[in-house]
Amino acid sequence: MSVCYAELSGRRALVTGGARGIGRAIAAALAAQDVRVAVADIDGAAAAGAAAELGRGSVAVQMDVTDRASVEAGFGEVLAQLGGCEICIANAGVSTMRPALELTDRDWDFNFAVNARGVFLTNQIAARHFVAQGAGCIVNTASLAAKVGAPLLAHYSASKFAVLGWTQALARELAPHRIRVNAVCPGFVRTSMQAREVEWEASLRGMTPEEVIADYIRQTPLGRLEEPEDVADLVVFLCSDGARFMTGQGINVTGGVYMG
Ligand SMILES: NC(=O)c1ccc[n+]([C@@H]2O[C@H](COP(=O)([O-])OP(=O)(O)OC[C@H]3O[C@@H](n4cnc5c(N)ncnc54)[C@H](O)[C@@H]3O)[C@@H](O)[C@H]2O)c1
Repeated sequence: MSVCYAELSGRRALVTGGARGIGRAIAAALAAQDVRVAVADIDGAAAAGAAAELGRGSVAVQMDVTDRASVEAGFGEVLAQLGGCEICIANAGVSTMRPALELTDRDWDFNFAVNARGVFLTNQIAARHFVAQGAGCIVNTASLAAKVGAPLLAHYSASKFAVLGWTQALARELAPHRIRVNAVCPGFVRTSMQAREVEWEASLRGMTPEEVIADYIRQTPLGRLEEPEDVADLVVFLCSDGARFMTGQGINVTGGVYMG
């Protein structure tokens, strides 16, 4: 998108799950605003590839957001490689799909480890640095499933509701430090996560993958699948001074699937 937020130029951002999908689009949209981006991902090789493709001083960091030591070491690397950090995008997330009564402890723990604990650790470690420097901005990737319970994704929904609760509480605690904390809630976004979910849902609901996608589009008033860039543009706005009076929000960007 061609909007220019001059105030973002020269800032430095950590983007988790930045190697592909929504995180990669966020990294690209920030880089287009002249933000230096650290692409952090559990898949270090993919993060390196994404950072090389982005250019503009982007760097890659291998980081497992479920693991405190890994996030601490990774954030230290971000500071060393970029010389500082003012923006934290906690975007890494996973999903599995199963009827609620067939969910396993493993499904629950895996989704909560990445989606909830991952956001907690990433935000906490970045925010300690932001508090010390007296400024910073945090955006977390929640989901449509953080606003309404999603069938076959009860555990995922619960982990994403947790992200919004954490985002609101952190926003209240950090506001006196001039740190804003917001979340974005995307809908049916065309990424590798969606490709996996379409296959699972097709087999669980006895549909073809094409029928599942058609159903997603039918639920979307704006009439198409969401693109990662649709989310990225909102994230950049939330990092900009245009959002200077917004904190503790979970902003829907779903093409109208959810209105509320
Ligand atoms: N695709 C959608 O329809 C959709 C909708 C709403 C919300 N979301 C959320 O958006 C975010 C990005 O999803 P996506 O669709 O781009 O997924 P994706 O699977 O395409 O990409 C996710 C990235 O996160 C990385 N990752 C996974 N576990 C990690 C970990 N422990 N530590 C660090 N990195 C890790 C993966 O390697 C991958 O590069 C997630 O939080 C997801 O829940 C996605």
